[in-house]
Amino acid sequence: MGNDPLIVFTPSGKRGRFQIGTPILAAARQLGVDLDSVCGGRGICSKCQVTPGYGEFPKHGITSGPGALSEWNAVEERYDAKRGLKAGRRLGCQAKILGDVVIDVPPESQVHKQVVRKEAAVRNIKMDPATRLCFLEVGHPDMHEPTGDLERVRRALHEQWNICDATADITLVSKLQPVLRKGNFQVTAAIHRSHKNTRPQILDIWPGFHEAGLFGLAIDLGSTTIAAHLTDLETGGVIASSGIMNPQIRFGEDLMSRVSYSMMNPGGDSEMTAAAREAINNLTEEMARTSEIDASLIVEMVFVCNPVMHHLLLGIDPTELGQAPFALATSESIAMDARELGLSAVNPRARAYILPCIAGHVGADCAAVALSEEPGKSDELVLIVDVGTNAEILLGDKFRVLACSSPTGPAFEGAQISSGQRAAPGAIEAIRIDPVTKTPRFRVIGSPLWSDEDGFEEATAATGITGICGSGIIEAVAEMRIAGLLDESGLIGSSSQTGTERCFPEGRTSSYLVHDGTRSAGPKITVTQSDIRAIQLAKSALYAGARLLMDERKADKVDRVVLAGAFGAHISPLHAIVLGMIPDVPLSKVTSAGNAAGTGARIALCNVAARREIEQTVGKITKVETAIEPRFQEHFVAANAIPHKTDPFPELAKSIALPSPKFNAGGDGNGDIGGRRRRRRRA
Ligand code: FES
Repeated sequence: MGNDPLIVFTPSGKRGRFQIGTPILAAARQLGVDLDSVCGGRGICSKCQVTPGYGEFPKHGITSGPGALSEWNAVEERYDAKRGLKAGRRLGCQAKILGDVVIDVPPESQVHKQVVRKEAAVRNIKMDPATRLCFLEVGHPDMHEPTGDLERVRRALHEQWNICDATADITLVSKLQPVLRKGNFQVTAAIHRSHKNTRPQILDIWPGFHEAGLFGLAIDLGSTTIAAHLTDLETGGVIASSGIMNPQIRFGEDLMSRVSYSMMNPGGDSEMTAAAREAINNLTEEMARTSEIDASLIVEMVFVCNPVMHHLLLGIDPTELGQAPFALATSESIAMDARELGLSAVNPRARAYILPCIAGHVGADCAAVALSEEPGKSDELVLIVDVGTNAEILLGDKFRVLACSSPTGPAFEGAQISSGQRAAPGAIEAIRIDPVTKTPRFRVIGSPLWSDEDGFEEATAATGITGICGSGIIEAVAEMRIAGLLDESGLIGSSSQTGTERCFPEGRTSSYLVHDGTRSAGPKITVTQSDIRAIQLAKSALYAGARLLMDERKADKVDRVVLAGAFGAHISPLHAIVLGMIPDVPLSKVTSAGNAAGTGARIALCNVAARREIEQTVGKITKVETAIEPRFQEHFVAANAIPHKTDPFPELAKSIALPSPKFNAGGDGNGDIGGRRRRRRRA
């Protein structure tokens, strides 16, 4: 034993002594080294490639020469001739240990490879999908030992892969005999192993060695859009990402109107279920076609969605979600056959997994954000907000995580804003106002140029300047506050108060002119007093939700803020804080997580252990219901001021000095513009 050759694997550093003649793959398995194999060491799959290192390795106490491994053999020869092996590579199942050697396992040969993501701040995904391919040599039928083909496939799975008691549904059994015979009893099976302690399942089977791979779909079923990532289940690479509008929009723009549609129209929920499922099928077919993959190779689907979408996908009437106490039919994760969901564009035995919901207003999409952003592992107290028509908010650290949702309404998406529009070419997405001249300059989606730069007119000739999108209106309101056009209570000053004709009277209030396109038949883009009011309502709801969670944690500040969601990616941290959307933190502590819900779905697709992880995490998250919490209203009113009536913003003050004009000399300054206006109307 002491004289047996020493083998050291890198990058794991695992080491051990093995008898001369032990294949590298066998040594790797004994040491628990992450070395892939689909063919079980038969020299067919080439997944076990390794790079032996020869020379002096003082760190490992090894000197190794080319004689440390057996000679290149016929199997490697054949593989190299057919497919080509990279220089210096060996097949781990063929090369045998003859002397001390250092063996490097390249990333592509690791089963649990890390899918490195471009954004440094975002967690990498460790590959460990629920469904994997296994090459099998199945025993031939024997009259003297009569057994069924399925039983012999099971036995092969047990003996060759240590997979016991695999199930197969009748559609699989019905294709078993021709496949086995076509492959001369050598087949590749796709085996699904759930984390829920159910029996392994044979999802599909192909004759011989199946080279076309396996795929999965991570789907973010949103109320406005359905976004999907077609993912290679072997490498974790995203083959294609695509999205379509959710056709349920025809039943109601927002979630509550869809719940009402279901309440008012018998069978309305089924109509919406059918619409979503059909759209998912169409999206799947389209993505498979454009990516040139056979859709039957899609064997896994993972869904993240808000509670209403969750119920509608599952065919559950969402009526209860429209009224207190907002009871979910189930908040547990769901693992089922995709075909039971009417998802027919994928493999007929594909599995679907739906992440757990956190509460009646905080859905599987928020759970996916928690999976992706991991607030429960943070040393710092982190606030994560996913901004949409409902803001979903998580606050926590390694000690405790809380969640709530807050009804921000659609203003942050440019809806209910006089010049508002969805983020599309032509929409103003960024704006700066000169504090002296009060003149704005802006950028529109579709052009990188600012409006005061040469070439702007030409660059925007095709799209025009059509309105303001969500990020644009946030910047516009914050910039108006910075430039002294807006006071703390949210009132726009008149032209005489602000010294600019851009502030012009409209009824009893003032509006601010951003851009007048009427000379070229374009729209006049303004920010009106009621736009400011709509943004105040939305941002107060968001801030109040965050404050409520901070109260629960007895925290008067947070250490960092993560803005999640596609919209979050476009919000400028400075403007979000000036507006008082989020609590005061150093600007460098505000980051964007992009589509964190989509990332969470991809993690659950690629790593089966992550499913158990998020199920346990969700169980530990404290849910706070904003609708019934009296302090929510107090926080909401205080958050109406810009940035805030009572909470100090010392970090913001380090970056910028906000002017303090007062445009309503007789007012109480509590920012209750709507209330004052109503009183005036009655008078
Ligand atoms: Fe398949 Fe080595 S394990 S080729």
